[in-house]
Amino acid sequence: MLLEQKYFTGVIWQDFQHKEMMELFAKLRKARADKKDKDAFRFTVAFLSMYANHHFKLEEEYMDIYYYPEKESHKKEHKEYIKTLKKFRANHKEYSEEAVDKLIKKINKWILDHIFGDDKKLGQYILDAEKTNKE
Ligand SMILES: [Fe+2]
Ligand SMILES: [Fe+2]
Repeated sequence: MLLEQKYFTGVIWQDFQHKEMMELFAKLRKARADKKDKDAFRFTVAFLSMYANHHFKLEEEYMDIYYYPEKESHKKEHKEYIKTLKKFRANHKEYSEEAVDKLIKKINKWILDHIFGDDKKLGQYILDAEKTNKE
């Protein structure tokens, strides 16, 4: 699945990692449709928890390096998300169709909204900062 153009930030590592998360949800949706979702569900939740931490950390490193003016609010969004995901994991230890639907609707939506808003802003800032550095 191709990452939709509108979610591109233009920062290569950021786009690559976002794409991995989006592809994961595409797989989960497909597994849901094929009624093979048990393993896909467990895998998605585990992967997301691990990957989100790694991804957020990297974005936050860049915010610090380049003195991103909106870093506090962006970091707060990340923290909220980790909390939401933790709560989701605690409430849905076992697979259920309801849990999968919630994951697809709520968590996936959060990721997309976040990429489209905060991350795109950050991406543009990083691009500008790196351009200025080269000049
Ligand atoms: Fe991101
Ligand atoms: Fe972010």
